[in-house]
Amino acid sequence: MKILVINGPNINLLGLREKHIYGDESYEALLSYIEKTAKKLGVDVEFYQSNHEGDLVDAIQGAYNRVDAIIINPAAYTHTSVAILDALKAVSLPTVEVHLSDIHQREEFRHISYAGMACEKTYCGLGFAGYSEALKYLVSNYMDK
Ligand code: DQA
Repeated sequence: MKILVINGPNINLLGLREKHIYGDESYEALLSYIEKTAKKLGVDVEFYQSNHEGDLVDAIQGAYNRVDAIIINPAAYTHTSVAILDALKAVSLPTVEVHLSDIHQREEFRHISYAGMACEKTYCGLGFAGYSEALKYLVSNYMDK
């Protein structure tokens, strides 16, 4: 089983940005954390990060017929991007949304998630663990199915 893990704008600055919200571990640390969990679960993961909305749309389109599922943290585009929502709907792959912080406990503009409307499940406020929960969810629901 192959899972594409997509991260949106500023996630590459983990460890530097708003540490009181996102912690002090880097983006590279996040990738190795996910890689480790994936290995344990016996799935392949591929990573993509971009600060550009259209690139994220392209990555979602490129997942069609190539991977089995998507984990996505669209970051700020979560709350604005109908294009990302439409791309997720178009490819119609099993998708799980992840946010490091709890978007519902933050500013009101973060409470809406467009991308989330095309996702089966959302994990937020769990930090890195949200990504491993997403992997576990996809493995238990879609591995060998
Ligand atoms: C985020 C939450 C978003 O509101 C924010 O814009 C981000 C990160 C999270 O992982 O908690 O960049 O998606």
